[in-house]
Amino acid sequence: MDKPAISADRLLLFGATGDLARRMLLPSLCALDADGLLPENLRIVGTARSDIDDTEFRNMAREALETFLPAERRGGMATFLNRLFYQALDATTLDGFAELADKVGPSTNEDGDGGLAIFLSTAPSLFGPTIAGLQHAGLTGDHVRIGLEKPLGTDLQSSCAINDAVADAFTEDRIFRIDHYLGKETVQNLLALRFGNILFEPIWNSNYIEHVQITVGETVGLESRVGYYDDSGAMRDMVQNHMLQLLALVAMEPPTSFDATAVRDEKVKALRALRRVNPDETVTGQYRKGAVDGEAVPGYDDELGKDSDTETFVAIKAHVDNWRWKGVPFYLRTGKRLPERVTEIVVRFRSVPHSIFEGMGAGMQPNQLLIGIQPEENITLSLMAKVPGLGTDGVKLRQVPLEITMPDAFVGQHRRIAYERLLLDLIQGDQTLFVRRDEVEAQWHWIDAIRAVWEEAGITPKTYSAGTWGPSAAIALTERDGVSWHD
Ligand code: BG6
Repeated sequence: MDKPAISADRLLLFGATGDLARRMLLPSLCALDADGLLPENLRIVGTARSDIDDTEFRNMAREALETFLPAERRGGMATFLNRLFYQALDATTLDGFAELADKVGPSTNEDGDGGLAIFLSTAPSLFGPTIAGLQHAGLTGDHVRIGLEKPLGTDLQSSCAINDAVADAFTEDRIFRIDHYLGKETVQNLLALRFGNILFEPIWNSNYIEHVQITVGETVGLESRVGYYDDSGAMRDMVQNHMLQLLALVAMEPPTSFDATAVRDEKVKALRALRRVNPDETVTGQYRKGAVDGEAVPGYDDELGKDSDTETFVAIKAHVDNWRWKGVPFYLRTGKRLPERVTEIVVRFRSVPHSIFEGMGAGMQPNQLLIGIQPEENITLSLMAKVPGLGTDGVKLRQVPLEITMPDAFVGQHRRIAYERLLLDLIQGDQTLFVRRDEVEAQWHWIDAIRAVWEEAGITPKTYSAGTWGPSAAIALTERDGVSWHD
C-alpha cells in the first residue's frame, strides 16, 4: 500500500483567470467547500498575468461561480470567496516568484507541517519557466505536490521533455497528471463494476467477449480554441488521453488493491500491450457544414478560416496483445460535430455456443453490457428473455434490458464535476486517479506510431457532414468484421 500523504493547507492555481479555472476549477472548489470537504484552513492563491488584486479576483470568481455552478451548490460561496487571494505573475521570468511565495505563505497548520498543492493550467510552454521559478522561490520542497493539466506534449519526445523538466523539481510521487475523465463518477464505477462483482470478471476475456466499442461523441465544433485544436486534432486531443484511459480500465488485469501503485501498474501493462495499428485499421475525418441538434453549423475549414489537414474525427480498430484479449477488437471512435454528445463503452459478448431455440425464429442476440458515462450515467445489460404467450410455433425470445440508472440508484447524491474529485485528491495527495509518467509515455508511443502510419500511407481526413457519425469509412471499419457501431 502507498503511504498516506499530508493534506495541503495551501493551494496555488496557475492560470487562475483562464477558461478552465472559471468553468471548472473554481466551481469545483466552491462546491467542495459547500459540502465541507476542503480542509478548514485551506488558503487558495490564484496567479496569472492579469494585473488584478484580491478583491478583483474574488469578483471574477463570484461571476464565474454564478455562471458555471448551479445555484443549489453555491451555498457556501461567501465563505469560499474569503479563501481566495491573488498575485499577478509573469511566469516567463524569475522576478515575481519570491513575491508569489510570500503570498502563498507558510503552512497555517498548528505544527506548520501542512502541504502545498500547485495546479498548473497554463500553456505547456510555460511549464519549464514556471518550474524554474518555483525552484527559485523554494516552492518545490517535500511537502509540495504539483498537478499538471493537459496537453502534456504533442508527441512522445515533447512529453518526455515536459516530464523531465517537472522531474527536475518534483519526485514522481508528487506529480499529479490530470486526465479529467478519471474524475468522472461512472469511469470510476467501471472499476467497481469489474472488481466489486463476482459476475463479470470470470467472463471478462476473449472466451466470452467478442468485441468492445468505446465512443466519445461531441456535438460541439472548434469552440473558441482555434489555435490549440488545429495543432492538436482528435487523436491527440481525445484518443491519446481520455479514450486510452477508458480502454486501459476496461482491459487491465485486476489490481491487488485500490491504491495508486497497484491500479497504475495494471493500467500501464494494458497500454503497453496495444498492438501497432495498420493503415486499414484507422479512419480519420473532418466535418463539413451540416446540422447538429436541428441547427445549421459551418464546416471545420469555414470555422478555421483556412484549409487544414487536422482530423476532427478518428475511428480505430485496436488490439490488446495479451492472453486475456487475444483476437478481441477494441473499436474506438471520437469526433466533433457528431449527432450526439455521448460517452459510452459497449462490451459485446459472444453468442451462446449452441442454441436450443434454433429453427424456432427465436431471434437470438448475444448479450451486451452498455456503460453510459455521459450524458446519462447508466449501466445496461441486455439479456434474452421469452416473449410471453402461448404460441404454438415455438418459443420466441427477445432482448430485454436489465438497467441501472445511476441517479435513481443513488438518490440524493449530487452529480459532481469531474474536477471536484481530482482537486480533492490533489489536496489530499492521493494519486490513484492521476496518470503516471510511464502511462503517458506508453500512450504517446502508441499514438505516435499511428500518426507515423498516417504519414507513411498518406492518410488524410475524409470529409463528413456535421451531424453524422463520421465518414462512411468509419462504418465500413466495423461492418467488414460483421459489427455495427452502437448508435
Ligand atoms: C478535453 C478536450 O480534454 O475534453 C476537448 O480538449 C473536449 O476538446 C473535452 O471537448 C471533452 O470533455 P467532456 O468532459 O465534456 O467529455
